[in-house]
Amino acid sequence: MTDDRLIVALDVPDALAGLKLTEQLGDAVGFYKIGLGMLTGGGLALANELKTEQGKRIFLDMKLFDIGATIEAAVRGLAQFDLDFLTVHGDPHVVRAAKEGASGKPMKILAVTILTSLDRADLDAGMIKQGDVPDLVAERAGRAFDAGADGVIASPQEAAMIRALPEAAGRLIVTPGVRPAGSALGDQKRVATPAQAIADGADHIVVGRPIWAAQDPLTAAEAILAELRG
Ligand code: C5P
Repeated sequence: MTDDRLIVALDVPDALAGLKLTEQLGDAVGFYKIGLGMLTGGGLALANELKTEQGKRIFLDMKLFDIGATIEAAVRGLAQFDLDFLTVHGDPHVVRAAKEGASGKPMKILAVTILTSLDRADLDAGMIKQGDVPDLVAERAGRAFDAGADGVIASPQEAAMIRALPEAAGRLIVTPGVRPAGSALGDQKRVATPAQAIADGADHIVVGRPIWAAQDPLTAAEAILAELRG
């Protein structure tokens, strides 16, 4: 059985490249994230193929945000694709509408609290209320859980704080920004190792470049899986 705590981000240009990578990873990886970058490159078709032909689990990272009626309609449509996780922004009206759209389907709604690439200056520019980023993340996570979110996306450095919230009991924490010791950070700022992220309360880690940009993606994935086992 695959260790589905590892979710590999398929941040490659199109479905063909995605399929090639999943073939390289074979049985080692059972859970894939498909994001906005692949939407016009056949992302939904790839999601469908990985699910129905290969039995993989799929996380569609759409980070939806709109009026409630539009979110509900979009999520109802996406729920037909037999996806496992879908992201929306963590605003309570968005989460409530997404849960309504997903009702009757097993697809879990994960809320984005504050994008991990944003710092206080970005929040000021966006007219987001005063406060330290971690405090705002905890508050948004709590509100998203109250609105019915099945889980949240958070930086690994926020995982322990969110796990400690009473509202987080029984909910999922999924962390990108994970880097094995010694690997390049890229544009990620607040990172942790795979083992640390899980120890801090993450249920799943999302890893992209350290696997898909590696010379040997399978070896890179297996090293991360070994770290999780250890
Ligand atoms: O290559 P890397 O491991 O940094 O990829 C992380 C993945 O997680 C990317 O697909 C990125 O879009 C996604 N992500 C993130 N930070 C968030 C939400 C999603 O890095 N807050």
